Amino acid sequence: MDHTIVLIPGDGIGPEVSRAVRRVFEAAGAPVRWVEYQAGVAALEAGAKDVLPAETLGAILEHGVALKGPCSTPVGEGFSSVNVQLRKRLNLFAAVRPVRSLAGVKTRFENVDLVIVRENTEGLYSGAENQVTDDVVISMKVATGTGCRRIAQWAFNYAARHGRRKVTVFHKANIMKLTDGLFLRLAREVHEETHPEIEYQEAIIDAGCMKLVQDPTQFDLLLLENLYGDVVSDLCAGLVGGLGVVPGANLGVERAVFEAVHGSAPDLAGKGVANPLALLTSAEMMLEHLADTRGDERCRTLAQRIRHAYTRALAEGRRTRDLGGDLGTEAFAEAIIERLN
Ligand code: NAI
Repeated sequence: MDHTIVLIPGDGIGPEVSRAVRRVFEAAGAPVRWVEYQAGVAALEAGAKDVLPAETLGAILEHGVALKGPCSTPVGEGFSSVNVQLRKRLNLFAAVRPVRSLAGVKTRFENVDLVIVRENTEGLYSGAENQVTDDVVISMKVATGTGCRRIAQWAFNYAARHGRRKVTVFHKANIMKLTDGLFLRLAREVHEETHPEIEYQEAIIDAGCMKLVQDPTQFDLLLLENLYGDVVSDLCAGLVGGLGVVPGANLGVERAVFEAVHGSAPDLAGKGVANPLALLTSAEMMLEHLADTRGDERCRTLAQRIRHAYTRALAEGRRTRDLGGDLGTEAFAEAIIERLN
């Protein structure tokens, strides 16, 4: 039986990179049936009244798993982010982003292998912003004991399941004593109560960032609240070749939405040059998730075949422009397809 997966192409480079992923999946004979729904500016352009149409949300609720391209969000005005809405409405509280050095992608460091776990529903992303006076605006940072404990438990369980030996919390509890203080206190408690065998560290986020760019190999799993996780994800992408190569998953108890860390890249949109690898590796994570949650080992085998194919392509110098190569989106997808076995 095929898995029905909601595909949201999104905006900007989204449709181009999702087309490339579909091609690779079809060539590999993936047991997946895509149902396509719109979100973002693409939804408005297709006549929807909202950037997150009810039928798109309904499709994810029904089928449980989605692969999503990036959606644009206007800066400083306009509609609120589709991504934030999706994560909140589906309660996708954990964002997980593995950051790994890739063969054939030359960067300052060779052995980066870390995982970012980001709390996905609270913090300054709560959208609780107010105009107090003509001169004063405020934004509220929200932390709940339930949310902080839940993400800490998720991170330690993930670490234990995936053989990660050290968890480091990045925080600013020296300044935000209540919100980051709560995040930190519950991470410590969960560590002691559930996985004392895993090494536990804390770093004030500014110093942590410096350590990350000096030597990322000293970290294993990073646990962060929402905004820090967002910023540090892009920083870490820069350590392994950029936003074109880092995948992600937004996970809740019953639903999962897989998407690259990158945005809609308006500077590249329509040019056929975006790197589809970040979305393809997000789709690879989706296959592992299907294997883990539905027991379908065909998906695991397929994830391995796809991983081998793009690893070979990169090692043989077949790369998109962001990685110093000369291939366009489609040509890189073709190079991967040629190496599927
Ligand atoms: P961005 O991630 O779209 O682009 C940042 C830089 O990375 C650009 O130079 C871009 O060309 C490059 N880049 C990104 N993806 C690439 C790829 N696949 N291949 C090669 N190069 C790539 O971030 P930016 O410009 O800050 O945001 C653009 C829009 O995307 C905004 O409207 C923002 O709100 C939205 N966004 C959406 C996200 C999502 O849907 N999950 C995540 C981040 C941003």
